[in-house]
Amino acid sequence: MTERRFLFVMGSARPGGNTETLARAAAEHLPEGAEQRWLHLDDLPLTPFHDIRHAGEGVYPVPEGNERVLLDATLDATDLVIASPLYWYTVSATTKLYLDYWSGWLRVPGVDFRRRMADKTTWAISAVSDDDMVVADPMVGTLRLCAEYFGGRWGGALLGFANRPGEIAADHDALTRAKSFFLTPRATA
Ligand SMILES: Cc1cc2nc3c(=O)[nH]c(=O)nc-3n(C[C@H](O)[C@H](O)[C@H](O)COP(=O)(O)O)c2cc1C
Repeated sequence: MTERRFLFVMGSARPGGNTETLARAAAEHLPEGAEQRWLHLDDLPLTPFHDIRHAGEGVYPVPEGNERVLLDATLDATDLVIASPLYWYTVSATTKLYLDYWSGWLRVPGVDFRRRMADKTTWAISAVSDDDMVVADPMVGTLRLCAEYFGGRWGGALLGFANRPGEIAADHDALTRAKSFFLTPRATA
């Protein structure tokens, strides 16, 4: 059986927020033997993304620094968990920037990013302060379509209701769903 390696990409703009709490609750119930790694995008700031696809050869330079850390971790994972709070109905800015870099990584010679992304399962975890979870549809759709763009699998979305730090503890339904989230692929939000 393939060893599972979960990468949690944390996109909140504050430490120890509701999204992370929900993600850590879910991470307590990974498939047997699975490894986990956590990266906070605020700890690994990226410079603005530049679209050089149609300039010159359209080839991107070999990543260095924080970008290299994120690329290597992304490639190494079998399961990508995008843990972003809902910001303006979509992912946070740091999360979106990380996704934009995927476009460059497609064009780094020798990385084979497209094929390697096709082998992965992508999951979403998010704290939402609106009591109607339908407002998270654009974010969930963004992440699902990005996963499917590469031919990868979509694991599903785990959404919880919270606004101030700590409030996620009161969403017992979300914390219950967290226990089986990673054990039931293609679960719906
Ligand atoms: C910039 C910004 C935009 C937000 N936009 C939304 C939104 O569109 N819908 C919503 O329900 N909550 C929105 N919120 C509230 C957060 O989703 C909520 O506070 C969440 O619990 C934050 O998660 P965190 O503690 O993991 O950072 C927004 C918060 C911020 C700071």
